[in-house]
Amino acid sequence: MTTIAVYPGTFDPITNGHLDVIHRAREIFDQVIVLVASNTSKSPMFGSEERLDMVKAAVKKYRNVRADNFEGLLVDFTRKKKATVIVRGLRALSDFEYEFQMALTNRKLAGEITTVFLVPHEKFTYLNSSLVREVSRLGGNVSQFVPPHVMKALRKKLRG
Ligand code: COA
Repeated sequence: MTTIAVYPGTFDPITNGHLDVIHRAREIFDQVIVLVASNTSKSPMFGSEERLDMVKAAVKKYRNVRADNFEGLLVDFTRKKKATVIVRGLRALSDFEYEFQMALTNRKLAGEITTVFLVPHEKFTYLNSSLVREVSRLGGNVSQFVPPHVMKALRKKLRG
């Protein structure tokens, strides 16, 4: 049996911390779909297609990872793809309450789908996309936080 896992997020933009989670997930599950989803409480800097392109470029080297985007409910996408696992990263205790709430809501909506939490490397504990956007906006160097193509996209977006 093939186990398909969905790793959802806003990915505005994808960072090395997200890639660490993807790398761990691809070693556990047969297939991983990185899903660029929407969080209704966020107004992203990059459009959905731009975020998807950045994710695609970051995962193209992985045979069992692909990327997609979707506007609806995460559980609907997960079911549509016949995936049974949702992967989320847990960086610190501060992530827990929000993640717990989402995992239980998704379980109420689709009991056959299990949320699995993976812990990224501790060197990424502090990292998030807002920080990357802010450092970049203020002219700082984000090369240790994101892949080179994301750095380029940030520069282009901020120039434009
Ligand atoms: N490394 C670095 N940063 C990480 C990280 C990691 N391993 N894991 C999470 N983050 C950061 C993200 O960059 C993001 O930072 P930001 O807030 O500064 O942008 C933050 O932690 C959490 O964001 P993310 O992982 O992208 O999740 P999210 O909270 O934006 O995404 C969705 C939530 C998209 C999964 C959720 O809203 C969803 O499922 N939407 C679809 C609609 C739906 O089904 N809603 C009901 C859900 S119960």
